[in-house]
Amino acid sequence: MLRVGFIGWRGMVGSVLMQRMREEKDFAGLDPVFFSTSNVGGAAPKECADGGLLKDGADLRELARCDVLISCQGGEYTGEVYGPLRKGKWTGYWIDAASALRMSEDAVIILDPVNAEVIRSALAKNVRAYIGGNCTVSLMLMAVSGLFRAGLVEWMTTMTYQAASGAGAAKMLELVKQIGFLTDATRKTPSENALEVDRAMILEQRSPRLPVKEFGVPLAGSLIPWIAEEMPEGQTKEEWKGMAETNKIMGIDPPVPVDGICVRVGTMRCHSQGLCIKLKKDVPLADIEQILAGGNAWVRVIPNNKESTTRCLTPTAVSGTLSVPIGRIHKLKMGPKFVGAFTVGDQLLWGAAEPLRRMLGILRSHLNA
Ligand code: HSE
Repeated sequence: MLRVGFIGWRGMVGSVLMQRMREEKDFAGLDPVFFSTSNVGGAAPKECADGGLLKDGADLRELARCDVLISCQGGEYTGEVYGPLRKGKWTGYWIDAASALRMSEDAVIILDPVNAEVIRSALAKNVRAYIGGNCTVSLMLMAVSGLFRAGLVEWMTTMTYQAASGAGAAKMLELVKQIGFLTDATRKTPSENALEVDRAMILEQRSPRLPVKEFGVPLAGSLIPWIAEEMPEGQTKEEWKGMAETNKIMGIDPPVPVDGICVRVGTMRCHSQGLCIKLKKDVPLADIEQILAGGNAWVRVIPNNKESTTRCLTPTAVSGTLSVPIGRIHKLKMGPKFVGAFTVGDQLLWGAAEPLRRMLGILRSHLNA
């Protein structure tokens, strides 16, 4: 039986991974072992063989006993153990949610509904590192992979509306606390006058009472047009990933330009994106919709009308589901080759956990295990 080690399975992405693996009965026929960096010797989840105790996530010998390691522990951990494991001649498969190895030449970014051929060809070449993509890029590609695969995209801009979950569990909790503070403030001095309520809100948003330890500034009732580190030429790292990862995932060379502005908004776990796509040629709208709908089994083309859009194309509608709706599809006034669209996806599912569990499935078929 394939011995699969899980690290970081208790964190937010790890918990969603565990939940999805249980729902899909992925543990059947596996020999799963669970590692910890803080509770070694504690009780492992019920799926655990091997005594049911948590093993030490820093124990390279124990890690190296696994055929496959799946890490949701974060980039720092990857940096600490991956190199030494390989130096110690570990030849197992490394599946990781963190970005640390994503752009390495020895690693493939996994999003199999979109790049199954890239993954299959890497397995055939004995590549041993399979890394989940940036959530924004993965969700965008789940929506528009059809157009990329058809070779129709000349360039694309992505204007994002990213959920708190992308920044981690503590940020989600802080967002909810901020919402609580703001609503409390309006309850203290109830008013039906919108300008008075607005004054109470802005006072609270700017007050030192508002919890901002995580975000540094208010997110509730506001937004933050900056995600991740500063990069050269005015981009942020999150924006830089758009082009780098899209082209690596799709295996496109020469690369298609992808760029935009990444913005954190006060939603919980769904990232949304407004897209402007410049096509290489004028394609009728009905054909574009058909190509998009054929991209994979999870993308849903939403008719460009108010009723369908407001019902189906929102974080509230999509949260907790594997559907990736894309709507508002129409030709832009810039010309017949310019298409506007809007897409929403669950950041913790297709944006994080789902590609990992599916990679394990692909690996099991590949190894016949
Ligand atoms: N970096 C993303 C975000 C999340 O901050 O929303 C994961 O790719």
